[in-house]
Amino acid sequence: MLDVENLGIRFGGLHAVRDVTASIPAGQITAIIGPNGAGKSTFFNLISGFYRPTTGAVRFQGEDLTRRPTHEVVARGVARTFQTTTIYRELSVLENAMIGHRVRTRAGLLDALLRTPRERQDAQGSRDGALRALERVGLVRQAHLPAGALTQEGQKRVGIAMALASEPKLLLLDEPAAGMNPEETVNLMALIRELVAGGLTVALVEHKMSLVMGLADHILVLHHGQLIAQGTPAQVSRDPAVIEAYLGSHAHGGQMGQGGEAAHA
Ligand SMILES: Nc1ncnc2c1ncn2[C@@H]1O[C@H](COP(=O)(O)OP(=O)(O)OP(=O)(O)O)[C@@H](O)[C@H]1O
Ligand SMILES: [Mg+2]
Repeated sequence: MLDVENLGIRFGGLHAVRDVTASIPAGQITAIIGPNGAGKSTFFNLISGFYRPTTGAVRFQGEDLTRRPTHEVVARGVARTFQTTTIYRELSVLENAMIGHRVRTRAGLLDALLRTPRERQDAQGSRDGALRALERVGLVRQAHLPAGALTQEGQKRVGIAMALASEPKLLLLDEPAAGMNPEETVNLMALIRELVAGGLTVALVEHKMSLVMGLADHILVLHHGQLIAQGTPAQVSRDPAVIEAYLGSHAHGGQMGQGGEAAHA
């Protein structure tokens, strides 16, 4: 579904992502793992149009998306959540989801300012689209609560609803289980499975190995910006280069498997 070829970006002398050629297959769950600073979030930033690659190409469903701005990437069906929660705590859960939906609506700023019929139609559409997204993440009953009043898990679900409101085909989740307890993590895994069963393709970055190993069909392993291994959870977890990368980063103070879980569990 999404293919990258020789993808790379440099920040000064640092190759945050270097020469990565890989695919995210449709209808599956792909996990991107690697020690802290491996380039995982940068990889998402590159494929979602937040960063412009210095080298290589990004193709989505056969279309070249390299160097396209984020709103064009979103419009083609790639949406993401962020590693740090980016919900609007004072706004209601519904308003948060509506913000996610606006990205896809056609009314421009001028329509909004002049309150044209198209703008009114879009506002209604945003509300309907946002409610559909909240239904998918199980938050319809909380729609009118301030988002900040929800639990950590609830707030993560709001973030996912914001992304789903743009009606993506591919959803990128950056550390969706961060800060969650084991029970919340299991609930999140069930939600991700449901979304995929409904036809969505998911790629996620995650340090919690129980989630990665229990959920992923396919794993990409990044280390110092490079793709050092890929395969099924079983293949990756016994790959010497992967074990080495995690042990090495651990010895240098990297956090392997945040939450106290072994990388090769
Ligand atoms: N905008 C930027 N400017 C300069 N350096 C950056 C920028 N974004 C990322 N980096 C650097 O690129 C490297 C990879 O960072 P990235 O955030 O992608 O790692 P990560 O694998 O997501 O790590 P973590 O598991 O800690 O979230 C790091 O050394 C980081 O400091
Ligand atoms: Mg990151």
